[in-house]
Amino acid sequence: MAEIIVAKSAGFCFGVSRAINIAYEQNKQNKKIYTYGPLIHNKEVIADLEKKGIHVITDLDEVETGTVMIRSHGVGKHIYDELEQKALQMIDGTCPFVKRIHNIVKNAYEQKKQIMIIGDAPHPEVQGINGWCENSAVILGELEQAEQFHTGENKNYTVVVQTTFRKSKFENIITLLKQKNLVLEVFDTICSATAERQQEAVSLSQNVDKMIVIGDKNSSNTQKLVEICRKYCKKTYYIETICNLVLNIFNKNDKIGITAGASTPPAIIKEVIGTMSEALNDAVQNNGGSEDELTFEQMLNESFTTLHTGDVVKGTVISISNEEVSVNLNYKSDGIIPKGEYSRDANVIPSKVLQPGDEIEVFVVRVNDGDGNVLLSRKRIEDQKGMEEVEAAYQNKTVITGKITDVVRGGLIALVNGIRVFIPSSQVSNKFIEDLNVFKGQELEFNIIELDKVKRRFIGGRKALIEKEILEKKAALFEKLEIGSKVKGTVSRITDFGAFVDLGGVDGLIHISEMSWGRITNPKEILKEGQEVDVIILDVDKEKGKISLSLKDSSNNPWTTAVEKYPVGSVTEGKVVRMVPFGAFIELEAGVDGLVHISQIANKHVVKPEDELKVGEVIKVKVLEVNAEQKKISLSKRQAEENTEEAPKEEKTEE
Ligand code: F3S
Repeated sequence: MAEIIVAKSAGFCFGVSRAINIAYEQNKQNKKIYTYGPLIHNKEVIADLEKKGIHVITDLDEVETGTVMIRSHGVGKHIYDELEQKALQMIDGTCPFVKRIHNIVKNAYEQKKQIMIIGDAPHPEVQGINGWCENSAVILGELEQAEQFHTGENKNYTVVVQTTFRKSKFENIITLLKQKNLVLEVFDTICSATAERQQEAVSLSQNVDKMIVIGDKNSSNTQKLVEICRKYCKKTYYIETICNLVLNIFNKNDKIGITAGASTPPAIIKEVIGTMSEALNDAVQNNGGSEDELTFEQMLNESFTTLHTGDVVKGTVISISNEEVSVNLNYKSDGIIPKGEYSRDANVIPSKVLQPGDEIEVFVVRVNDGDGNVLLSRKRIEDQKGMEEVEAAYQNKTVITGKITDVVRGGLIALVNGIRVFIPSSQVSNKFIEDLNVFKGQELEFNIIELDKVKRRFIGGRKALIEKEILEKKAALFEKLEIGSKVKGTVSRITDFGAFVDLGGVDGLIHISEMSWGRITNPKEILKEGQEVDVIILDVDKEKGKISLSLKDSSNNPWTTAVEKYPVGSVTEGKVVRMVPFGAFIELEAGVDGLVHISQIANKHVVKPEDELKVGEVIKVKVLEVNAEQKKISLSKRQAEENTEEAPKEEKTEE
């Protein structure tokens, strides 16, 4: 059985379809309409438009009153100015992709930049673009022209390219120009519709027995399609309408591909498919011949989408202004998303996130908003998706992510696909957060802990989530930690008795006595919050969830060298650091204290050490005994003084 495969991209591109649609819609309002140049390279459509009173003009002088429509190719600025001067009404059918090029050129020209257009100089689109820089652009359409291009003094160019230009040729021209040491600001403004249609023609023609290309004989993009198809499928037929097709050349088992140029109306494609199906005795798209009775416009209308309030449909962005986003829905009228209907997130600015040509999903609020447009909302799509997401998270107790858009009294507002979820301050974290503003703009994870759809009350909570995370991290860390090993951490909090160190989600404690071999009275003497430290794991108590840490490294323990540094009999200096009723402690170096017993302070009876010594005073002492294991050194001030008087040379034993 024969098979007919129609290319998805066959026929009108978005820009042409939009322009034709606008023309028919305006015509319904009994307006006298003139199109500035033919709207489309298709005799059938032009004839139908003409029949309806939509005439083609090539000069504005041909019009006294009425409305002039600009076609999708666009025009230069002078045409807009002239229309204004003549007080003629205007409908702008310029394709949004072409409009974008006009804006680029206009802005660059206002900034005194030199414009270069890569394109076919006589093509109306290129002429229109040139009209936005007072026809001052350099226009290059062939590699040879680029080769011969003499740059002169000006080496800086803003480059745009005709929407239907071949990509590979454009890239070759740019490469060549760059070799001439030009400084180019290049905007690739090629429209993907043409490339997609050509790409589809390649793959379709490779896989069928016969190929039909429908389009006006004067349409250059249709000619290009024919050329491509003939390369891969010798039996390619180029027709303008079904009348040009000899039907008896097709066999019952043929696989037939159909594509069409950008100016071919859907009705003509439909007619070809229908007639061929009949001829092949196939039921595909066979309307029993009733289409013959339909007018062209009816057939065109049939190809449009049907819309109902509440539908969720896809559309293509036409333009974005401060007030609204205009969307093509392949419907008789364009859709409008008013500013307030775009997103629940007030920080989302449509012009920053959208571009003409983007495909978006929209909700139909009203098929006719009173001005003949379709009223759309994107916010409602967000709402629907958000509601489903929030409900599922609540039912399944799963975690969801929301962007913090507001800090309000008592908590945060997170937006989940348009749904506002309130996170009370007590639920933001497991610890007190002084300034909730730090979360603004961040994406946070949380659970939905309360939900009331009727009251639209959605409460989020992160506390349990954070606590669970900490427990998991703790468990994993506890498994990893080895007593005696050295790890890195960050000081998270300092108290009088020590410092807490974050080891990667879990805090351990360095007690003040484990901070230094020397004497410190406050942990802040050596540590500050946020400081990175290397710590030794002293103990891990999995049951109590406690980790004891130390900063004292055995490699720098001063007691390991104390025996050699302070031999018995040697005389050295030390600082009085503490006094007790039975004597005074003398610091010989950080971490090494010795005791001068009260009987060893002076050559007389001493009642209290304070009578002879002052804290902070540096004195000479003689080493009487060293016990490094017990970290004890006995010293004598009295004997040191005797030594000084009697044998000065023996004061200190040199190593
Ligand atoms: Fe058509 Fe506009 Fe692209 S007119 S080919 S959609 S630039």
